Amino acid sequence: MKPEQPKTIAVTGGASGIGYAFCEHLAQLGHRIVIADLRGADEAAGKLRAAGARAIGVKCDVVSEDDVGNMARIAEKEFEGIDGLVNNAGLFTTLALKPFDQITSAEWMRVMEVNTLGPFNCAKAVLPALRKSGRGRLVNIASTVPIKGPPNMAHYVASKGAVIAFTRSLARELARDRITVNAIAPGFTLSEGVLQADLQNRIGDNARTTGRCIQRDQVPADLVGALAYLVSDGAGFVTGQTLAVDGGGVFL
Ligand SMILES: NC(=O)c1ccc[n+]([C@@H]2O[C@H](COP(=O)([O-])OP(=O)(O)OC[C@H]3O[C@@H](n4cnc5c(N)ncnc54)[C@H](O)[C@@H]3O)[C@@H](O)[C@H]2O)c1
Repeated sequence: MKPEQPKTIAVTGGASGIGYAFCEHLAQLGHRIVIADLRGADEAAGKLRAAGARAIGVKCDVVSEDDVGNMARIAEKEFEGIDGLVNNAGLFTTLALKPFDQITSAEWMRVMEVNTLGPFNCAKAVLPALRKSGRGRLVNIASTVPIKGPPNMAHYVASKGAVIAFTRSLARELARDRITVNAIAPGFTLSEGVLQADLQNRIGDNARTTGRCIQRDQVPADLVGALAYLVSDGAGFVTGQTLAVDGGGVFL
């Protein structure tokens, strides 16, 4: 079997946390990486280049159509196309945990903006390039929370439910363009943002390991193999799926 040709893959929120782990792993597999992030994109891309990868960073707010359009243009110019998009940027680690009747409508809308409008904007911006690619890959980072329904983060849970629904609808629309659309649903993961916000202690042991077949904390490295598979040519007949990566906490 011939080795796969590398792809150009844009990762939103790729400058830190789970997103950076994704970028590092995809770069190690030989893919060209576009890191799109509100902050730290250039520095993160610099680290990948220092390790021998082809990578660029673009400052980008996924909520802004102008920013994501600019990101797509820069990526296409630099690498002559885009083959994959990973919608990873999301509001989670900085959220205050509170009962739903204490969530303001502004907080609700902000979470929906970043977690659902963001992936929509990015998918639209890269669609012409993915169509041209002929082996386009779109991967949305959801969560297991829409299946488990934890309390005190109703806006976040609803937003990730929307991400899974969006994934299914796009899979049907884009199959004719040979673009697959899938989601990864991570369990609670000790990302940089989680550790900085001390979320692992605020959220309690219940979210961390209870109900998991594999009784240990999840780390970003646990997620990278699932992404590598979904962007691979070998996954070309897999679309519309949500792959839970959480040590066997939920069965979809
Ligand atoms: N950590 C977990 O337990 C967990 C579990 C399930 C799903 N997820 C999802 O995984 C993804 C990454 O989570 P994480 O824990 O690494 O988060 P994080 O907070 O550590 O990192 C998020 C990254 O996204 C960037 N970002 C935030 N808003 C942005 C915007 N508007 N535009 C561009 N970039 C933006 C941040 O700068 C940061 O680099 C999120 O979508 C999150 O909802 C996380």
